[in-house]
Amino acid sequence: MPTALTELSAHPIVQAPMAGGASCPELAAAVGAAGGLGFLAAGYKTADGMRQEIERLRGMTGRPFGVNLFMPQPALAEDAAVDVYRERLAGEADRYGTTLGDPRGATDDDYEAKLALLRENPVPVVSFTFGSPTAETVDSLTRVGTCTVVTVTTAAEARDAQEAGADAVCVQGTEAGGHQGTHRDDPQRDGNGAGVGLLTLIAEVREAVRLPVIAAGGLMRGAQIAAVLAAGAVAAQLGTAFLACPESGAHPLHKQALTDPLYARTELTRAFSGRPARGLANRFLREHGPYAPAAYPALHHLTSPLRKAAAQAGDPQAMSLWAGQGHRLARQLPAAELVAVLAAELAAARAPSTPVASAPAPSNPAASPPAGTAGPGPFGSAS
Ligand SMILES: Cc1cc2nc3c(=O)[nH]c(=O)nc-3n(C[C@H](O)[C@H](O)[C@H](O)COP(=O)(O)O)c2cc1C
Repeated sequence: MPTALTELSAHPIVQAPMAGGASCPELAAAVGAAGGLGFLAAGYKTADGMRQEIERLRGMTGRPFGVNLFMPQPALAEDAAVDVYRERLAGEADRYGTTLGDPRGATDDDYEAKLALLRENPVPVVSFTFGSPTAETVDSLTRVGTCTVVTVTTAAEARDAQEAGADAVCVQGTEAGGHQGTHRDDPQRDGNGAGVGLLTLIAEVREAVRLPVIAAGGLMRGAQIAAVLAAGAVAAQLGTAFLACPESGAHPLHKQALTDPLYARTELTRAFSGRPARGLANRFLREHGPYAPAAYPALHHLTSPLRKAAAQAGDPQAMSLWAGQGHRLARQLPAAELVAVLAAELAAARAPSTPVASAPAPSNPAASPPAGTAGPGPFGSAS
């Protein structure tokens, strides 16, 4: 089923927006040039920082791309809960020779200013995380020719996105690396944010709304992309798989940790930001996660200097090592090569007579697409 969205790239492969530096213009440009859809992450940036990244990307490529925005957050936690957590982290600040950040930092992520820039100087796709935009916001972007996507983690959130007039939903399974895009973080209702697995969620969302679905969470191989397309998605959004690419702006220690046997598992945690996010289970996450209150972005601001100091000290044990459940399958391939390998694996998985092969993990720069799978045509025609 071709949609305005799927016509933006040759392959049904979206490089996930990854705030914190990973999805930089270099990565988005390389993915776009290889026939995927690249994304910039505006989260944690100022509106001007976002504008500069868009300009840099436009200087590198004429290919379509997306920009992801964080929805402004209501203050959820009581100050007292944040104070208790701050006291708990005092020893961590001493350990890394830094001070804790001010938890009363901004909660709106410069949202309105970013929207104003995106209306003035439109981009092909804008996606929203941590909530659904208003119908007026969606309409204002539609009028300037932008395709809008809302990240959802439940069928009810998908209904809200449809009501707001979004063009598509990004369905994020619990396997996903980084923050769960849950619209309202409610520990009473969701516990630690433990969500629904991707294949189940795709089916639930497809029965709830008519919108095209982009599937995200744990996807590392072309055969998995074939699986979510068979389940009704029009495209797959991959974060952790692209995190390991040389073009990704992720910290080198973060890239290495993805396939380091020291990190055997991932966990959903509020330890670093106050909102459930999936990361490699390192010391900080294990020691503090169970005590972290639902206080995003207060904890993000509070732990920011700690995480930076740990990175500077070369200690991944107190960095936020966001990763999806498939992290051990990460391949350190240049982004264009990764898109080509994924597309070839996808084509092989969709052709029943062709043996399905995967390029090896974790790092084999010489890995090439399986023989006899030269690459698919435009993905609208393949579905
Ligand atoms: C390091 C990192 C940062 C992320 N930052 C964002 C973000 O800024 N906005 C967003 O919508 N999703 C973000 N995500 C989630 C991705 O959009 C996507 O849902 C997820 O990466 C899919 O799971 P996977 O990592 O297993 O492929 C991030 C994921 C990672 C790994």
